[in-house]
Amino acid sequence: MHGLSSLVLLGTYALQSVLGRPDASRVQGEIYKRSVDTFVATESPIALSRLLCNIGSTGCYAAGVASGIVIASPDSTNPDYFYTWTRDSALTFKEVIDTFAYDYNTTLQTEIENYSGAQAKLQGVSNPSGDLTDGGLGLGEPKFNVDETAFTGSWGRPQRDGPALRSIALITYANWLIDNGYTSTVTSILWPIIQNDLNYVAEYWNQTGYDLWEEVSGSSFFTIANQHRALVQGATLASALSKSSTAYTSVAPEILCFLQSFWSSSSGFIVANINTNDGRTGKDANTLLGSISTFDPAVGCDEATFQPCSDKALANHKVVTDSFRSVYSINSGIAEGTAVAVGRYPEDSYQGGNPWYLCTLAAAEQLYDSLIVWRSQGYIQVTSTSLAFFRDFDSSITAGTYESTSSTYTTLYDAVSTYADGYVNVVATYAATNGSLSEQFSKTDGTPLSAYDLTWSYAAFLSAANRRDGISPASWVGTGDAVPGTCAATSVVGSYTSATSTAFPASQTPQSGYTTTATLVPTTTASTSAKTTTTGTQTSTACAAASTIAVTFDDLVTTTYGETIKISGDIAALGDWDTSDAIALNANSYTSSNPLWSVTINLAAGQVIQYKYINVATDGSVTWESDPNHTVTIGASCATATTISNTWQS
Ligand SMILES: *[C@@H]1O[C@H](CO)[C@@H](O)[C@H](O)[C@H]1NC(C)=O
Ligand SMILES: *[C@@H]1O[C@H](CO)[C@@H](O)[C@H](O)[C@H]1NC(C)=O
Ligand SMILES: *[C@@H]1O[C@H](CO)[C@@H](O)[C@H](O)[C@H]1NC(C)=O
Ligand SMILES: *[C@@H]1O[C@H](CO)[C@@H](O)[C@H](O)[C@H]1NC(C)=O
Ligand SMILES: *[C@@H]1O[C@H](CO)[C@@H](O)[C@H](O)[C@H]1NC(C)=O
Repeated sequence: MHGLSSLVLLGTYALQSVLGRPDASRVQGEIYKRSVDTFVATESPIALSRLLCNIGSTGCYAAGVASGIVIASPDSTNPDYFYTWTRDSALTFKEVIDTFAYDYNTTLQTEIENYSGAQAKLQGVSNPSGDLTDGGLGLGEPKFNVDETAFTGSWGRPQRDGPALRSIALITYANWLIDNGYTSTVTSILWPIIQNDLNYVAEYWNQTGYDLWEEVSGSSFFTIANQHRALVQGATLASALSKSSTAYTSVAPEILCFLQSFWSSSSGFIVANINTNDGRTGKDANTLLGSISTFDPAVGCDEATFQPCSDKALANHKVVTDSFRSVYSINSGIAEGTAVAVGRYPEDSYQGGNPWYLCTLAAAEQLYDSLIVWRSQGYIQVTSTSLAFFRDFDSSITAGTYESTSSTYTTLYDAVSTYADGYVNVVATYAATNGSLSEQFSKTDGTPLSAYDLTWSYAAFLSAANRRDGISPASWVGTGDAVPGTCAATSVVGSYTSATSTAFPASQTPQSGYTTTATLVPTTTASTSAKTTTTGTQTSTACAAASTIAVTFDDLVTTTYGETIKISGDIAALGDWDTSDAIALNANSYTSSNPLWSVTINLAAGQVIQYKYINVATDGSVTWESDPNHTVTIGASCATATTISNTWQS
């Protein structure tokens, strides 16, 4: 009952009605990329419009909701999610702001500004966790009423991921404003809100709180990972605004140090909650969500920050997703290495304890993130830690580094790509036929369950779909903190002041010539991804990330007199592939034994670019070097200069 017929059915329905769902049967085995392509193309506009429906005051499902307030779901009965959560709202706006930063849109900009205003207000609302003026304690409150009053019922509080996630979202918008010349707007409106949240993180990160599922009081991987990210980004922003960053730079490495303790080397996975005794295995989609929410395309497979393609995060991906194979009957009989429905944690019983769309999408997204990095770095590294993950795709693989030119790389890349699409296909299979995504779907027959039109489900879909398309958020790690040899419980008592200036000036439009800091690593196939060697100096640990990098392009190519080598690429600075606007290299150091052409070009940090060299003859005729295009990440780091060494591809 599996295989081709179901797939064809899915594709056919997907084209005819809005979305197709093949009876009750799961699609297994080889997933046809095309059916997932169709689903993603159809679902993307639906997801964005329904996400916006859940935001006040104008959202179509948000009647009576204050401006800029995000409801978790329009559902007000069993479960009643007609409230606003700091976490869900921040994750939603992180996606909205990334979308906006990638493709400027005034409607989204007003939504973002309304969100900012609403958060400034909520920060000052006295609530059962405390007050803003009470050492910032009120910032740990997880949820509020939709009219911006305190929710006073009993709840799992505090939840300390909220301030971290909110500051990350607002910093992303702040960076966009700064890049476009609106620094004073950031200083007067955004910084006061962001600063309260950063101070909260620096003061309370080392105290227990409830996890993202609001059930376990302890220390949670998702929370700690995002707290680290918030302080790293916060320190960079503080420096850019000439504010003190000392509290953030002193605490961030200690949070990173603590983050390492979630890894259980004896069990080979990331334990979701520590400093607690919750009686669970510790396998939890919390850790997949933590890894994807701190994805930085510019730092490769960095282990300390548990980047999606780090060996620990991949080992963990296998353990967590495998833990759901036996607990849901819709997963039964599906072999390891083939996608399944993923829930929060295997012991879950909330609302029936079913798979969640956003957890299944997180499993996909972690793999798409990995594919982006592999394409951009041009190799896949397999270690003893990640061996079990990769053995699902190549049973004889051994630890080693597989260059993009190798057949092993192609095998692994293509298999992981198919595996990732498989998770999206699970969502395609069990989404409502009109594209609505609820919170859960039945573990026995896949029917949508629990809160309907869950905002976070839509945000999770959009994020995964962007990564599938090679679109990444801007880099945040910079040069990164070294993990201290010994961890310390350093915290800094902060000050908290209500953010009173909330009205944004009109017309904060993009500056001409602005190129997005979001990055695109094109989805070339494995065998054509380019390997580019990037060298730069990355030594210091505390410095402001450079916004512009002087990139020297060196190309070794033998030419004859009168010929000129130029560089042409996909950004304005490289002529947008128009050869008449290509940039000429110079032959100042050219010798017959070292035929070096070179040019230095200032490029905005945090972008991924594609380019090729061309040879222009005296008569103006152009010869392109052979495929593939070169792809390189202009990473955001302290380094203000970097050199890329290429050899003409003939
Ligand atoms: C801006 O985004 C909104 C919401 O998604 C959309 O309806 C509108 O068409 C977009 N505007 C432009 C100019 O793309
Ligand atoms: C932002 O809030 C204002 C005031 O409530 C409202 O008029 C406007 O429609 C909102 N903008 C968006 C895009 O929701
Ligand atoms: C506080 O930090 C120390 C050092 O990393 C760690 O051992 C301890 O578990 C942390 N406690 C909490 C509650 O975060
Ligand atoms: C989508 O379908 C579900 C039933 O599967 C229904 O409850 C919901 O109202 C529909 N939503 C829209 C926007 O049509
Ligand atoms: C190189 O980039 C150009 C422009 O985006 C594109 O048309 C071409 O297909 C790319 N080549 C390869 C091999 O991906």
